[in-house]
Amino acid sequence: MADTQWYKEMAVYQIWPRSFCDGNGDGIGDLWGVLGKLDYIRSLGVDAIWFSPLYPSPNADFGYDISDYMDIHPDYGNLEVFRQVLDGAHERGMRVFMDLVVNHTSDEHRWFLESKKGKDNPYHDYYYWRKGRSVNGKRLPPNNWTSVFEGGAWEYNEGLDEYYLHLFARKQPDLNMDNPKVREEVKKIMRFWLDMGVDGFREDVITFISKTPGLPSSYPPLPVANGMKHFSNRPEVLDYLKEFKRDVLDFYDCFTVGESPLTNADIALRYVTEGPDQVLDEMISFSHMEADCFMTDMIRLPFNLRKMKRAFTDWQMKLEGKAWNALYIENHDHPRIISRYGSERYHDESGKMLAAMYMLQRGTPFIYQGQEIGMTNLRLESVNLYEDVMTRNSARIASKLLPRRHVLRMVQEGCRDSARTPMQWSGEQYAGFSTAVPWFYVNDNYKEINVAAQEEDPDSLLNFYRKLLRFRKDTPVALWGDYREHRPEDKKLYVYERNYRGQKLLVVCSFTDEQVRFEAPEGIHLAEGDCVLSNYDMNFVIANGFTTRPYELRVYQFG
Ligand code: GLC
Ligand code: CA
Repeated sequence: MADTQWYKEMAVYQIWPRSFCDGNGDGIGDLWGVLGKLDYIRSLGVDAIWFSPLYPSPNADFGYDISDYMDIHPDYGNLEVFRQVLDGAHERGMRVFMDLVVNHTSDEHRWFLESKKGKDNPYHDYYYWRKGRSVNGKRLPPNNWTSVFEGGAWEYNEGLDEYYLHLFARKQPDLNMDNPKVREEVKKIMRFWLDMGVDGFREDVITFISKTPGLPSSYPPLPVANGMKHFSNRPEVLDYLKEFKRDVLDFYDCFTVGESPLTNADIALRYVTEGPDQVLDEMISFSHMEADCFMTDMIRLPFNLRKMKRAFTDWQMKLEGKAWNALYIENHDHPRIISRYGSERYHDESGKMLAAMYMLQRGTPFIYQGQEIGMTNLRLESVNLYEDVMTRNSARIASKLLPRRHVLRMVQEGCRDSARTPMQWSGEQYAGFSTAVPWFYVNDNYKEINVAAQEEDPDSLLNFYRKLLRFRKDTPVALWGDYREHRPEDKKLYVYERNYRGQKLLVVCSFTDEQVRFEAPEGIHLAEGDCVLSNYDMNFVIANGFTTRPYELRVYQFG
């Protein structure tokens, strides 16, 4: 855990390695590619890189199914080039965080291969192996839980006549964290990377690592993730995280952020409240990512600004004075934000507005590769062309209920693949990502949306991200100020202020192309402040307010 509070001031850049930059010309992103881009990453003004999994993996879930925790996937390089990246990042003043995926392994991990050899194999108890139930002579899985990715949560093994539990894909068997030997393995993994110089971890679905003893069935049954009350936020999770902290993390000046689907701000506080019982530095929330969908991105709904605002404000207010937020609007698990909460038509305007909207809240901003140039959703012609296991599974289920046209649209707007297209570096062939045919589709718009073009333009989205990150770092009220929302019922504008030691920021964001009259909240006189960030020229004020232009952003600073 971090000794000091450096993590509160930092901004983090997330790399999904397969699609970031190909350095050896095989069409797959890698660490050689990253090495060549360290200056670019630093130029954004970020202080750390989080790598989505770099480890050997059969790629059933693109790296989140790990077959060796202490090595690098040969597609991405080896430990030597990883060390070069680590040193290169450190030399440039950036920290490096690894993804720690210990809720499950790959079914090709040595532990799992051993565990299925027999019930008395020492690794058998590393996983949840259980006998099936027999109902009217029919063999059924041990309980009625369903996985997040692939139907039932149990897979049968004939040789053992037992089932193993997988809360995600079949090729991702859940580790049995209740087994102290498994926890020792996790500690070994942590020490391995920390001793090498890594600065912390993003802990994948960490709130799922313990299950109700006896693994009871769950009623009433839900179509997806049925049983979640038995595998989400169990009290033992806190004990295990405490143990990791006591035995490992406390010996290093490192950072931890937990990933927590199905977790609200009140539950998050159990983990991140500062003080002796804190077990994680930050928690990745999900609720603000559900303003245009129901539970998962795949069940699409019209964008509802009030829903988004409620979620942000809830976390901001509840963590105030107690804990620190992780702020993000994109990562490798969600479609692109301009295509969702912004507007592809007002690409730059909405991209800038969305950036300021979340990064000027209280917390540590995370920026996902390609977000800084406003990459957009990938719309392929057929569902079969998408790669992700979750996309395929959702499409399969949806096809039973919906016409093909609807399923395609759902995938185009809701899939994780949109975040996983090759990074658009330039307008050259393959978007400058690789010299060979890339492993996955490049978005057709790479000629217009790319890093090289935006480097040239002082007003580009990319340069706005740089300006914004610099502003945040140089402005105490942006880092430390209290958060207060205005007009919470407004369906078109998001307005909040931050206050710190006599300084004030007022952030006004329009989420529409319509004109909306904005009037400053009582006690605030726009004429007395400076408009320090905006996405249009000529920011006139009329009668202590203004009429918004499409997706307008204005940030006023006072004091
Ligand atoms: C997390 C990861 C996601 C992965 C899942 C299973 O949600 O962010 O990419 O598929 O866990 O590991
Ligand atoms: Ca490569």
